[in-house]
Amino acid sequence: MAHKSDLIAEDIERYLEAHQHKSLLRFITCGSVDDGKSTLIGRLLYESKLIFEDQLAALEADSKKVGTQGGEIDLALLVDGLAAEREQGITIDVAYRFFSTERRKFIVADTPGHEQYTRNMATGASTADLAVILVDARKGVLQQTRRHSYIVSLLGIRHVVLAVNKMDAVGYGREVFEAIVAEYRDFAHRLGFEDITAIPLSALKGDNVTAPSAQTPWYYGPTLMQHLESIEIEEDLQHRPFRLPVQWVNRPDQDFRGFAGTIAAGTIRPGDTVRVLPSGRQSRVARIVTRDGDLGLAVAGQSVTLTLEDEIDISRGDVLSVADAPPGVADQFQATLVWMHEDHMLPGRPYLMKIGTRTVNASVTDLRHRVNVNTLEHAAARQLELNEIGVCNLSTDRPVAFDPYQENRETGAFIFIDKLTNDTVGAGMIHFALRRAENVHWQALDVDKRSRAAQKGQKSCVLWFTGLSGAGKSTIANLVEKRLQALGRHTYTLDGDNVRHGLNKDLGFTEADRVENIRRVAEVSKLMVDAGLIVLVSFISPFRSERRLARELMDDGEFLEVFVDTPLAEAEKRDPKGLYRKARQGQIKNFTGIDSPYEPPEHAELRIDTTAMTAEQAAEFVIGMLADAGKLAG
Ligand code: ADX
Repeated sequence: MAHKSDLIAEDIERYLEAHQHKSLLRFITCGSVDDGKSTLIGRLLYESKLIFEDQLAALEADSKKVGTQGGEIDLALLVDGLAAEREQGITIDVAYRFFSTERRKFIVADTPGHEQYTRNMATGASTADLAVILVDARKGVLQQTRRHSYIVSLLGIRHVVLAVNKMDAVGYGREVFEAIVAEYRDFAHRLGFEDITAIPLSALKGDNVTAPSAQTPWYYGPTLMQHLESIEIEEDLQHRPFRLPVQWVNRPDQDFRGFAGTIAAGTIRPGDTVRVLPSGRQSRVARIVTRDGDLGLAVAGQSVTLTLEDEIDISRGDVLSVADAPPGVADQFQATLVWMHEDHMLPGRPYLMKIGTRTVNASVTDLRHRVNVNTLEHAAARQLELNEIGVCNLSTDRPVAFDPYQENRETGAFIFIDKLTNDTVGAGMIHFALRRAENVHWQALDVDKRSRAAQKGQKSCVLWFTGLSGAGKSTIANLVEKRLQALGRHTYTLDGDNVRHGLNKDLGFTEADRVENIRRVAEVSKLMVDAGLIVLVSFISPFRSERRLARELMDDGEFLEVFVDTPLAEAEKRDPKGLYRKARQGQIKNFTGIDSPYEPPEHAELRIDTTAMTAEQAAEFVIGMLADAGKLAG
């Protein structure tokens, strides 16, 4: 079984040759905190004779110091490299380990078991062919087991090993094993795995890991290693249609223009016709350039630079594909989204979406349902919390090339990124493009924004007043509009209280509803700007990300943010509608400034300190800004 075979000594050339042609199996291990995952991987490495003498000595010393196995070697220490996890006894990062036997090479991603680390698991799993799901024989199938299995299935892994570990602790009881397997199969049959192989193990004692155990005479199946060595993996990226997401355009001089990236699927040769997505233009491959010279053939996984016969416009983020089986192009999708951040996902909130090498603006337009990972039932939901999984519709601000995740894990997966912090907040898998997007086109109109505004002798824009309830937004906006009207300007005021009587009647004051409230009013104000008006928006609009969304909907210079800055104490003292009093008495929930947050603007065009000037002065101030910005002249 160990590959440190005699061949190395006898014929190193032949050994290396054999090694090169061994197939590669990528697998992941998933389990709860103390199912014995690290011990199992340690045992696989140990028994493959891949632990070197000096590591072994260190391991013996460590085992005495921090080990949990008394005098014996603690194999888990071999795997749990990080100090923090040693102390806490949990595994926290995805660690990739490489080992090989006579028959196969392996890459194992040791994924974290702790619930809050689901995201790490999602990253480790996406390239794996097989998942080893560990269960503690004493505990049986847990919530974790179900959750991990569900994520494994979402990620497109079709082969599963149910490793029932710690069989020594249950006296190698056959009934225990069979009951766990039955329960697991009952749950997992809905997940669409191709095969589930259940193996009774003791990673600690070594039973059925590499050698069949005398303790389980009732078990006739393979050992874990036998199974890993022999399972057939049909998944072969090379046989899929060619895809190359362009990482960068290499243009060192006038004569050379190459498109560099890693081939995500398929094969390519000079002379092959390729199509560029989303533009749809076609050309033929002239050369396949690498650092080691030109290639006659390149395959999935290789990093190459292609040059084409024609000069066509291609930029970073485009996808080069085989001409007769191109990926889809769309800007609306249905997808599964795994949320990975403490700040929940809210439909309508703007995020960045990275798919392949392209990053676009995106948001969830409809959270269709959340999936209960324990029962696989669908539940209605308005937001996704950390570790929750939902099926949703999403839309991007530009068309992107994609494949359904089922067909290609590379071009069908995406991540969501927070626009302010740049954190990865979610990961998703595309099911399909929404058809409605395909059939709705942009209708070109002859009369445009500029001519509509010119007719009114002005430049259209939005004055976006934000601030606490009772800050004075509406009072100031009202004075500004009166003055603009006196100057013969064409205006409209969208006021939170008023819009909530009609268009936004269905919305309350939860975070999710406020996001939707602002999204709608941002869209409406965009239409009004298009109509050539000077639009005054007076909404609390407490969240930075939605005000930013509104800003990004407009053209440069059209969005003028006015922060009506009144301290909470002052607004509460004024309390023009008696709402603060009610909120303090607990009669109104989620009241801004009391039990719902307000995020002040960081770069407002204008800040008005209402404790230092009157409403009339503030209105003058705003008019002055408009004049300075050239909005009052045609
Ligand atoms: S926003 O936060 O979603 O932008 P919006 O400006 O539309 O709020 O509405 C705020 C107005 O609704 C306030 O001026 C107040 O009159 C009223 N209101 C009722 N309940 C609340 C609440 N819980 N928080 C804030 N305002 C409330």
